Amino acid sequence: MKMESLKDLYLEQLRDLFDAETQLIDALPKMAEAAHHSDLKNAFDQHLRQTREHVTRLQRLFSALGERPEGQTCHGMKGLIKEGQEMIKAKGDPDVIDAGLIAAAQRVEHYEIAAYGTAMAHAKLLGRDEIVRLLDQTLQEEKAADQILTDIAERIVNVNAAVRRGKDFDTGTRTTM
Ligand SMILES: [Fe+2]
Repeated sequence: MKMESLKDLYLEQLRDLFDAETQLIDALPKMAEAAHHSDLKNAFDQHLRQTREHVTRLQRLFSALGERPEGQTCHGMKGLIKEGQEMIKAKGDPDVIDAGLIAAAQRVEHYEIAAYGTAMAHAKLLGRDEIVRLLDQTLQEEKAADQILTDIAERIVNVNAAVRRGKDFDTGTRTTM
């Protein structure tokens, strides 16, 4: 791997992201299938559509740079997806499994948020404003997807899981004082 300029590093980061997004296109339908709650299924389906768009954006960006997106494996995303697969295979309470799927998916989103933030910082330094805008569009969608998962977890899954398995949680004593 040649790393002689910021552009080399930047391209390496973008290729890593391209591979990460491509891996996600395979993983998200399995997450949607494993999810029990319809809101969560919909969130995964919606993010699958966005992720396809993210791949297309990265392809546009590579052609704008006169480069090819191939040749990089994102090991970080591989590991995160593997953790998600463990939750897909898990047996037990549907709400608890949904909470676990959300936890896995939010790790993925935060990984992408970090990666797009870095790529944007590099693009700014290189003075590529059109690329900054393209990356920022995706970054905002990753942040929104993360927020949707937080909302689902807070609104439904965590509450249901805690109620059903109340005896397993030390929820403390409620007081009216
Ligand atoms: Fe994405």
